[in-house]
Amino acid sequence: MSKKVVLAYSGGLDTSICIPILKEEYGCDEVITVAVDVGQPKEEVIQAEEKARKISDRHYTLDVREEFVRDYIFPLIKANGDYEGYVMGTSIARPLIAKKVVEIANKEGATALAHGCTGKGNDQLRFEAVFRLTDMDVFAPMRDMNLTREWEIEYAKQHNIPVSVTSSKPWSIDENIWSRSIEGGKLEEPGYIPPEEIYQWTVSPENAPDGQILEIGFKDGVPVSLDGKEIDSVELIEQLNRIAGSHGVGRTDMIEDRVLGLKARENYEHPAATVLLTAHRDLEKLVLTRAELKFKAMVDAEWSELAYFGLVDEPLYSDLNAFIDRTQERVAGTVTVKLYKGSVMILARTSPYALYSEELVSFDSATIDQKDSEGFAKYHGFQARLYRKFVENI
Ligand code: ARG
Repeated sequence: MSKKVVLAYSGGLDTSICIPILKEEYGCDEVITVAVDVGQPKEEVIQAEEKARKISDRHYTLDVREEFVRDYIFPLIKANGDYEGYVMGTSIARPLIAKKVVEIANKEGATALAHGCTGKGNDQLRFEAVFRLTDMDVFAPMRDMNLTREWEIEYAKQHNIPVSVTSSKPWSIDENIWSRSIEGGKLEEPGYIPPEEIYQWTVSPENAPDGQILEIGFKDGVPVSLDGKEIDSVELIEQLNRIAGSHGVGRTDMIEDRVLGLKARENYEHPAATVLLTAHRDLEKLVLTRAELKFKAMVDAEWSELAYFGLVDEPLYSDLNAFIDRTQERVAGTVTVKLYKGSVMILARTSPYALYSEELVSFDSATIDQKDSEGFAKYHGFQARLYRKFVENI
C-alpha cells in the first residue's frame, strides 16, 4: 500500500522542505499539503498555494475564518481568555488547523499526518493533541532533524524549492485574524528594545490621532454590532483591527511561560481583541452577580490554560464551556469605549439584564430603608471583635 501523508502547510521554508524530507527520510510516496486560512495575509495563502502546486502531490486551501471566529474566538471572548496576560491567538488556531488536516487525511485515505513545528515550542503539542486522536502515524521532521537555516536553504535549492528573500527574515511571525505574534532573532533577548518595524497592525501610540468613540453591541456574550450597525463576525473583527490598530491599541511585550517550562520573550499585536475583551469584561460586571463573577474568574483561568495548551478535546473544556455559555445568555447590551493613543477607556454601558438600579443606589431614594442596615452594620466584622476580646491577649 502506498504511504500517503497529509502535511499542515504554511508556504514557509520549514514546511516546504518537509515535502521532500517526508519522501526521502520517512518513506512517504505521496505528500498532500493543506494550507488553512485563519486570517493570515491573503498573499501568504496565495503564495502557499502557488508553491504547493509545484512541489507537493496535491494541495488544498481551506478558508475557515468563519468557523475560527464562531467556534474558537467567540468562546474565547465569553471566557475572557487570557494566559499570563497573553491574548491567545496562535494557541486557539492550531487545534482548528490540525482538525482540518485530519479531515483531509480521512478524505484522502492517508495513513500519516505531519507538521513542521520544532521541539522547542508549544505548537507541536497543540497539533499532536488533535492528530493523535486518530490512529494515523505522526511525523515531525523539523523536530526530528534539528536543522540549521543554512542547511535548509541549501537543501531547498537542491530540491528546486523556491526560496524567497523573506525566508531570511529576522523574526518568526504567526498571524491570524485575532492576533499577530512576532518572536525569535534578537527579540529573544528580553533586554532588547524591539524596533518599531516589528509592528504591522498597530501604529505607535504617540503617532496615533486624537481619540475615537465606538459603541460595541453584544448578544449572548459575543459582539454583534459596531456603532449600532449589525455586522458579520469576521468583518467585525477585521474592521475593529483596523480601527483600533490606527489608535495604537493592542500591543503586548511579555515574558511567557511556555508549556514545556521555557520562558520566552514574546511580542504581539491584537487591536480588536483588546477592545472586545475589555468591553466584554465590563458588560459582565453589569449583568452577573458578585458570586457568579468570582466563580467565573476561576473557570475563565482554567479555560485559558486548556486553550493555551491546545487541549480543546479534553472533556473539561466542554464542561467549562457549558457553564460559561449559560452565564453568557445575559451578557447582552452595549459598551461605549474611547480609543486614545494606545488605550481603551470604557465610557458607558447598557443592558436589558443589568443588575443595577439607579433608584436603589441613589442617595435620594427612599426604596432602601437605611435604618434596616443598622443590624447588618452592627454584626459586620463580628469575628474580629470576638478575636480581639477573647483570644488576642491569651
Ligand atoms: N508563544 C505563542 C504561543 O505559544 C506564539 C507562538 C507563535 N509562533 C511564531 N512563530 N511567532 O501561542
